Amino acid sequence: MGGISTGYVFFSPLLPITALNGFEKGLNVTANEYSHFMTLPLQFLLSPQTTSSINQHTIHPYVFNLSHQRSTSSLLRTVSFPDVLPHTSATRLHLLQSDFLTLPSSTKYHLVITLFFIDTAINIIDYLQQIYDLLLPGGRWINLGPLLWTPGSSPRMELSLEEVLELAKLIGFQLEKGSRRQVNTEYTSNAEGMMR
Ligand SMILES: C[S@@+](CC[C@H](N)C(=O)[O-])C[C@H]1O[C@@H](n2cnc3c(N)ncnc32)[C@H](O)[C@@H]1O
Repeated sequence: MGGISTGYVFFSPLLPITALNGFEKGLNVTANEYSHFMTLPLQFLLSPQTTSSINQHTIHPYVFNLSHQRSTSSLLRTVSFPDVLPHTSATRLHLLQSDFLTLPSSTKYHLVITLFFIDTAINIIDYLQQIYDLLLPGGRWINLGPLLWTPGSSPRMELSLEEVLELAKLIGFQLEKGSRRQVNTEYTSNAEGMMR
């Protein structure tokens, strides 16, 4: 998945709030992910026992994909991480390791950010309704990512961006003026590859 993404969309179900103010001051952030393949590396990064300094870990992310490689040095190049130390951040991160659709809507949030996520939905109506139900009155939803509908699974609905926006309005979101943007972004692509 690479190239141009669909950009982000700000929705505000009720009154707009300045939800993004104070990010730098440290927030309570709740992350949700149900796959152990994702949460194990996260725990590895969050723990001071396993990650205690900037750029402590080095990997060769491209070495297993021999297609579209321009050179041996490109194939073997390394990436070091993390660029910031998560456990020293003022932001408090809380991980909910469960299905997004089962999160109780009795706990509500000022802001829901979906990053390369909504196209994992088997039923996008359920996802958008859940996002809406998780928001406090005046809360916002920010989305970034394409609509590559559930690769490897069988989505019941594969809507266009226009239809997703229409559906969101039907659920009760309001699209904030000027908030739709198209941004250049990549996901697991090889920036030096012959095909991206
Ligand atoms: C394309 S990845 C994006 C991951 C991350 N947001 C990022 O930008 O790198 C989609 C993620 O959603 C997770 N996922 C899919 N359906 C989910 C669900 N119903 N509940 C929780 N996580 C889910 C998958 O395990 C996968 O890690």
